[in-house]
Amino acid sequence: MTADTRDDVVLDIQGLRTHFTTDDTVVRAVDGVDLAVRRGGTLCVVGESGCGKSAMARSVLQLVERPGRVVDGKVLLHPDGGGGEPVDLAALHPTGREIRSVRGREVAMVFQEPMASLSLVHTVGNQIGESLRLHRGLSRKEARARSVDLLERVRVPGAERVVDSYPFQLSGGMCQRVMIAMALACGPRVLIADEPTTALDVTTQAQILDLFADLRRDTGMGLLFITHDMGVVAEIADEVAVMYLGTVVEQGPVDEIFHDPRHPYTRALLEAVPRIGASRSHRLPTIRGTIPDPGDQPTGCVFRTRCPDAVEGLCDTTVPPVTVPGPGRRVRCLLDEGPAPATASGGGDTVPTGKETVDAD
Ligand SMILES: Nc1ncnc2c1ncn2[C@@H]1O[C@H](COP(=O)(O)OP(=O)(O)OP(=O)(O)O)[C@@H](O)[C@H]1O
Ligand SMILES: [Mg+2]
Repeated sequence: MTADTRDDVVLDIQGLRTHFTTDDTVVRAVDGVDLAVRRGGTLCVVGESGCGKSAMARSVLQLVERPGRVVDGKVLLHPDGGGGEPVDLAALHPTGREIRSVRGREVAMVFQEPMASLSLVHTVGNQIGESLRLHRGLSRKEARARSVDLLERVRVPGAERVVDSYPFQLSGGMCQRVMIAMALACGPRVLIADEPTTALDVTTQAQILDLFADLRRDTGMGLLFITHDMGVVAEIADEVAVMYLGTVVEQGPVDEIFHDPRHPYTRALLEAVPRIGASRSHRLPTIRGTIPDPGDQPTGCVFRTRCPDAVEGLCDTTVPPVTVPGPGRRVRCLLDEGPAPATASGGGDTVPTGKETVDAD
């Protein structure tokens, strides 16, 4: 399935599969994912812990750790301006020169665990400056000055002092901001941010989200943002993809996902969000059961073991195809009832005439 053919797509992930293979199991962490990030747009990826968000994000830049491996699919990085052939990042050698020239310069990543990604033996300034010297040819002095500037942009207090500090001298939230500064250093066309603001207080988080919004508007940077926080999704997303057990079960424009969720899993995630004003005696609904072991996936629909609506003889035997209930929307549920009611936020795509199906893979 082609994720999107519109010419504002900068990163087009098609049929991506990433497996962790050991002697006796194959964990299908990413199992046929199609996603598109647009120039100047934000795609938020949500889903419970273990559903494959980080594995998907790391696969884009071929940074999956052993025994993980991208086993199928394409990751097309389109050139600026829409002309020319895209480069398939999934086809490049994981340690080769080509992918290394893309990492940090064209596609940058903020990792989920900042301390695992920062070197403890190099100063913050040297780590931010490294890619500026490598990719932009800046001198040591110029790179240091630019590092201070970047630290100020990500709201690190005392940037002149912090630039000469080592990561172990900084708080977790400060390290997270250093990671963001590193990722933004070379002005990437795509930023992949994996839970980038979880260790930050709400004020700093809001400032970082504003910074991302400015960069998207001013430079056309596309943002692939992974989060558990539906409040953040509501604030920054243009589009949302909901992942479950290695697959995208629903995706579409943010307003429609919030106001007309089609997949039972999306509905359950939204119902589990606390609301101000709700009675304290009201217990938040939880999604029953736990995510199955990705090394032992259910037959049929991946969500059926936890789905309140699952139909025996259907959901356990048939893999749901992708259906298109409305413009820009995709759902994988056998029980979805077809086109969405008309909404004001349509725009762009051809409005489907009925319950259309798209090649699943
Ligand atoms: N090195 C590894 N070896 C084996 N399995 C792995 C490895 N790394 C991840 N996995 C498995 O891949 C699946 C997806 O993990 P991933 O880290 O992508 O989840 P996630 O959605 O990012 O979760 P979280 O929200 O907790 O960050 C999980 O079942 C995990 O156990
Ligand atoms: Mg993760």
